Amino acid sequence: MFDSLNEQQKKAVEICDKNLLIIAGAGSGKTKTLTYKIAYILKNNLAKPYEILALTFTNKAADEMKQRIVNIINTSIENFYIGTFHALSLRFLRKIGKNYTIYDKHDQEMLVKDIIQSLNLDKNKFSPSKISSYISKLKNSANMEFPTKEIEKIYNMYEERLVNANAADFDNILINFINELKKNDELRLKFQNQFKFILIDEYQDTNNI
Ligand SMILES: Nc1ncnc2c1ncn2[C@@H]1O[C@H](COP(=O)(O)OP(=O)(O)O)[C@@H](O)[C@H]1O
Ligand SMILES: [Mg+2]
Repeated sequence: MFDSLNEQQKKAVEICDKNLLIIAGAGSGKTKTLTYKIAYILKNNLAKPYEILALTFTNKAADEMKQRIVNIINTSIENFYIGTFHALSLRFLRKIGKNYTIYDKHDQEMLVKDIIQSLNLDKNKFSPSKISSYISKLKNSANMEFPTKEIEKIYNMYEERLVNANAADFDNILINFINELKKNDELRLKFQNQFKFILIDEYQDTNNI
C-alpha cells in the first residue's frame, strides 16, 4: 500500500508522534503524502476515522483530497471529517444547533446595497460590490481599521442585519465557529479531545482567521 511513496514521503507518513510541516514544490507529492498518512493512521489503528480532521481551503483541493483518500482506503468517507475549513465549520455549527442561512456574494451585495440606500449615501461613491469585498477583506485581516466613518457604519449595520436574520456570510462561518470555541470551554475541550490528528493541505492558502 505504501510502496509508491519515496523515502522522504514514507518518513513523513510514519512520523505520527509530533507536529510536521511539509514544505515542497508543486507536484512534488504533498497531497499524496497527506492522503497516505490518513490511510496509515487508520491501518495502524492510531485513530478512528472520527478522530481525524483533514482540512484545506478551497473546494477544489477538498474534493481532490477526498477522492484520493477514497481511492486509497476504498471505503466510504461520508462520515469522515474531511473538507474545507468553511464546510466543516458549518457542519460543527449545525451540530451545536446554529442553523444559519448562508449569504453568498450576491446576497451580501444586496444587503450592502440596501444599507447604503437606507443611509442615503451617494450610490455612485459607495458601490455595493466594492464595499462588500472590502468588508470581507477587513474581516479576514488581523486588525479591523475602518478608513471612513461611513464604511464603519455600513459594516456595523451589515453585521447587525446578519445576526437579526440568523444569517452568516462565508467569513462569518469561520468567525462564528471560532467565537463558539472561544466562549465555550466544554465545546473546545470536546474538539481537542476528539481530534487526535489534524492534517491541513494547501496550508499556504489559509487566512488570518
Ligand atoms: N513517490 C511518488 N511516486 C510516483 N508518483 C508520485 C509520487 N509522489 C507523487 N506522485 C505523483 O505526482 C503527482 C503530484 O502529486 P501531489 O501529491 O498532487 O503533489 P503536491 O500536492 O505536492 O502538488 C500526482 O499524480 C502523484 O500521484
Ligand atoms: Mg497538493
